[in-house]
Amino acid sequence: MALLDIINLKTYFPSADGLVKAVDAVDLRIENGERLGLIGETGCGKTVLGMSIIRLLSSSTRIQGQIIYKGRDLLGLTEDEMRLLRGGEIAMILQNPTTSLNPVLKVGDQIAEVIRLHGGLDKKAAKAKAVEMLAATMIPNPLMRADQYPHELSGGMKERVMIAMGLAGQPSFVIADEPTRGLDARTKAEIVKLIRDMTAGRSMLMITHDLKAAGEACDRIAVMYAGELLEIASAELILSDPCHPYTQGFVHSLPSRGLQPIPGSSPSLIDPPSGCRFHPRCPRSMDICQREHPPMIRLHKGDFVRCFLCT
Ligand SMILES: Nc1ncnc2c1ncn2[C@@H]1O[C@H](COP(=O)(O)OP(=O)(O)OP(=O)(O)O)[C@@H](O)[C@H]1O
Ligand SMILES: [Mg+2]
Repeated sequence: MALLDIINLKTYFPSADGLVKAVDAVDLRIENGERLGLIGETGCGKTVLGMSIIRLLSSSTRIQGQIIYKGRDLLGLTEDEMRLLRGGEIAMILQNPTTSLNPVLKVGDQIAEVIRLHGGLDKKAAKAKAVEMLAATMIPNPLMRADQYPHELSGGMKERVMIAMGLAGQPSFVIADEPTRGLDARTKAEIVKLIRDMTAGRSMLMITHDLKAAGEACDRIAVMYAGELLEIASAELILSDPCHPYTQGFVHSLPSRGLQPIPGSSPSLIDPPSGCRFHPRCPRSMDICQREHPPMIRLHKGDFVRCFLCT
């Protein structure tokens, strides 16, 4: 049995201009112990997909489909049942450390709080464990840093605190949202290595713009575009020989491949293009691509692609 099986997930937000279809009929499976990268341009729905799994969305959100985690549909759980899973069983390392950390609490106390909630330790033992967790993130002077407030830490250190907090409850499944955003190249490489090491033996969904980071930390990569998944394959294949023209464009926009951006901009999620959502920007678009919506085709075990050229 897969650890997580997302079936036909739709997460829509009502707005004055119409329904924003941020996640539109997504099917995705994550195996036990698997680390999956989720990449795609800004606004394509990555964070909303992560938030849908852990159910951190406002009550006006329309969410449909199934999110089967260890055999239970998370969408059918009550808020109390969900609260028991959050942090301990499934944890999310949120996108923005600056707004996600509590500015008036020492970082060590914030990590200790998660440990106390999920590990049943008393205050003193939880604080000691928090320092241990910080040390595991290779932050220099963990004992001193634990007693500081978020504004006293650098961006890279705050990200380390977020990772320590995310893993403090010993979750089986971690959702890491843009853990390397805004960091310099060296810190980025360190954080990717840290994530890979600290999530060994767990399952992870790593949301990122950074294909290189996803390639280093993940086994498979799923590519998202305008609320849909377009391609899922091993990290190796996605980086070396992807089939979907969008993934190819994404790979060519890597700094190491010449930084060629994909021409055009992301489509509206309220009224996406007909046929293939990528066809207006696709260098290899055919007549059929404007008329028909390509289905997601399974190529091999765990490899999928949504493109008429790849079938
Ligand atoms: N609470 C909300 N209400 C209405 N629309 C929302 C809400 N949250 C997200 N959206 C919209 O859903 C779409 C997807 O947003 P999401 O944050 O998932 O993008 P993303 O892929 O994570 O982008 P980025 O890479 O910039 O983080 C966007 O168009 C966004 O404006
Ligand atoms: Mg996001």
